[in-house]
Amino acid sequence: MSHKLMCILLVITLLDTFFVLCAALDRRFLNDTIPPEELIRMMEGVKKTRYLLRNRSNNQWFSLSRRDPIPENIWVSGGDVKLIIHGYTFKEWQTTEEKIGEQGIFDLGIAYSLKNASSNVILLDWTILSTEPISRYFEAAQSTRFIGRDAALFLVRLAKEGYITDWDRVHIIGFSLGGHTVGVVGHEVQELAGSKIGRITGLDPAGPLFDIRGEMPGDLTRFLDKEDGKFVDIIHCNMRVPPSPIVGFLGSCLQAGHVDFYPDGGESQSGCTKEQDRTGSPCSHFKCVEYMTKSIRDKFLACPCENWNTFKQGKCECSFQSGGVLMGDPCCEPSASGQYYIQMK
Ligand SMILES: *[C@@H]1O[C@H](CO)[C@@H](O)[C@H](O)[C@H]1NC(C)=O
Ligand SMILES: *[C@@H]1O[C@H](CO)[C@@H](O)[C@H](O)[C@H]1NC(C)=O
Ligand SMILES: *[C@@H]1O[C@H](CO)[C@@H](O)[C@H](O)[C@H]1NC(C)=O
Repeated sequence: MSHKLMCILLVITLLDTFFVLCAALDRRFLNDTIPPEELIRMMEGVKKTRYLLRNRSNNQWFSLSRRDPIPENIWVSGGDVKLIIHGYTFKEWQTTEEKIGEQGIFDLGIAYSLKNASSNVILLDWTILSTEPISRYFEAAQSTRFIGRDAALFLVRLAKEGYITDWDRVHIIGFSLGGHTVGVVGHEVQELAGSKIGRITGLDPAGPLFDIRGEMPGDLTRFLDKEDGKFVDIIHCNMRVPPSPIVGFLGSCLQAGHVDFYPDGGESQSGCTKEQDRTGSPCSHFKCVEYMTKSIRDKFLACPCENWNTFKQGKCECSFQSGGVLMGDPCCEPSASGQYYIQMK
C-alpha cells in the first residue's frame, strides 16, 4: 500500500489524530510493512496517552491529555520538570495504578515530589499500548516511536505556554521500553524546538527487539543514545550479554549513554535468583527503578573499572578521588563518561 493511500485511509478513519498522522507521513515514521490495522490501533492508543501531574495538596495525580490545559495551582513555575515513562505492562494488573505501580514508577514520582516541592513531576501513562498479550510486544516496541513523539509535542507545548522556560531543568526518566521512548522524546524535542533536554536517564532500556534492531522488516524502534540529550545516563540491571539467549533477559547491554552504570555487574541483581533472571522474571529488571528511587535519598557511589570481575576482585579503587560518581539522582558532573560499577548489598 502506498504512503498516500494509507494516509487517506487513516485520515478518514481518525480525523482528530490528523496531526499525529502528519508526523507519521514523515518517512521516518511510516513504513509500508506495518499493517494498517496495527497502525490505526497505535494511533488510537497514542490519542489515549495520559499525562499524570502530581497534585501536592492532596497527594494525588491529576490526569490530562496532551492538549488539555494545565490546571491552576498544579504547576510550580521555575521548578524542575521530571517526566517519567514506564515500560511494558502486565494484564494481571488491572488498573493504571496497579500496572505502572508494579514497576515502582509511582514511588519514583512521589520520591521526586517529596524531595523538592517545586519539582513538577509528570508520569506518562501509555498502558493502553504497553499491555499484554505478549504477542503485542512488537507493537508496544514500535509504539515507543509515536509515544515519544507525543510526549515531545506535549513538552514543546509546555515551553510555548511558558511552563518550561529552561530545557536544562528538564529531566526525563524512562524504564525498559520507556528507556527508549525517552530517547525519542529528546530527539524530537531537538527537531521541534531546536533544544537539547538537560538530562535523560534510561533505566534498563529494553533489550528484546532493540538488541536485534534493524533485522526485523518494518522495524521503527529507535535505541536511546547520547545524542538524544545534553547528558544521557543509563543504568543496566538485567542486561543480556551475548551469546546468552535472547529470551530471559529484559535489558540491553549496549553502552549508549555518556555514562553507563552496571550495579552488581548489570545482569542480575542482589535479592533476585539466577533462576528468576534466566526465566524472564522482571525481578532484576525492576530493581533499576528501585535504585533510582532510593538514590534520591541514599548515595550510591559507582566507580570506573574495565569490567565487573576486576571490580569485584577489588582491583579498581572506589572513591570520589579515584573518579567515582553517584549512580541515580543526583548523578555526575557533565564531564563524566564511561562505564561505572557498584556492588549493591
Ligand atoms: C489539588 O488538590 C486540591 C486539594 O484536594 C484540590 O482542591 C484541587 O482541585 C486539586 N487540583 C487539581 C488540579 O487536581
Ligand atoms: C528545589 O528546586 C528549586 C528549583 O530547581 C531549587 O531552586 C531549590 O534549591 C530546590 N530545593 C531543594 C531543597 O533542593
Ligand atoms: C522500512 O522497512 C524496510 C525493511 O522492510 C527498511 O529497509 C526501510 O529502511 C524501512 N523504512 C523506513 C523509513 O524506516
